[in-house]
Amino acid sequence: MKVTVVGAGSVGATCADNIARAALCEELVLLDIKEGLAEGKAMDMMQTAALLNFDTRITGSTNDYAKTKDSKVVIVTSGIPRKPGMTREELIGINAGIVKTVTRNILEYSPNAIIIIISNPMDTMTYLALKSSGVPKNQIFGMGGTLDSSRFKYYLSQALSASPNDIQGIVIGGHGDKTMIPLTRLATYQGTPVSHYADAETLKKVAADTMVGGATLTGLIGTSAWYAPGASGADLVKAIVRDEKRLIPCSVYLEGEYGQKDICIGVPVIVGKSGWEKIVDFQLNDEEKALFSKSADAVRNMNSVLATL
Ligand code: LAC
Repeated sequence: MKVTVVGAGSVGATCADNIARAALCEELVLLDIKEGLAEGKAMDMMQTAALLNFDTRITGSTNDYAKTKDSKVVIVTSGIPRKPGMTREELIGINAGIVKTVTRNILEYSPNAIIIIISNPMDTMTYLALKSSGVPKNQIFGMGGTLDSSRFKYYLSQALSASPNDIQGIVIGGHGDKTMIPLTRLATYQGTPVSHYADAETLKKVAADTMVGGATLTGLIGTSAWYAPGASGADLVKAIVRDEKRLIPCSVYLEGEYGQKDICIGVPVIVGKSGWEKIVDFQLNDEEKALFSKSADAVRNMNSVLATL
């Protein structure tokens, strides 16, 4: 089985590295427009194979989509990352053109590929990829909730002095500093509500820190983060190629679910070999429903910019 990662920058390369280490496919193609970048990173990773004991064959390609032919899954990380002080939304002008072209090229060689969008602004880029390609909705989805939920679990684990592996928590809504919704009410420490272990103020801070998790890292590093975004992309690939049917929050096309339609936004979905297979209704309370509707308004506002480009 073949998997392709488009974009050999930090997020794409880390995603590819995680996919290879877990031996999720036999063939892995890393593609970039910058001459030699993907080839070099692919070769560097291949030189870890004998150390890490994986047998995935990684190939680099400078913009030759023929090499991606018959990919089962394609992860799109192309585009410019944000700089300190920038929002994900400010990237729309440049990234929209890139994501549209990349999606078209992928589908030319792998019409049935399941496409995971990581490029920002992620919800809008997912919507654009879906609308511009016309492929079935379950074939394209955005990776944001996976990453945001992992960050949520990190901050919860810090607040509770617990292992992140013992925490369950999900973030829905848009993948933006102001649009994501950490579902604190439903978060648990081994099945028991986190509110048993931390006061309301602490949990409010956990949610706030989660929402600006990406911006905090951009401020520290000087560019967008890559370890957790790359690992999140690889986690989705694993759920697909192993047909895990796991419940993961992803940005998917809604047609009335969660009270929204004609929008891609983060909701809990089941991920398996057909892509995202169904939406799970978490039965939000009124406060969460109001937050979700506000988040959808912001994402829809961003989508409307697409018409002006
Ligand atoms: C982040 C970028 C990948 O949240 O959106 O780090």
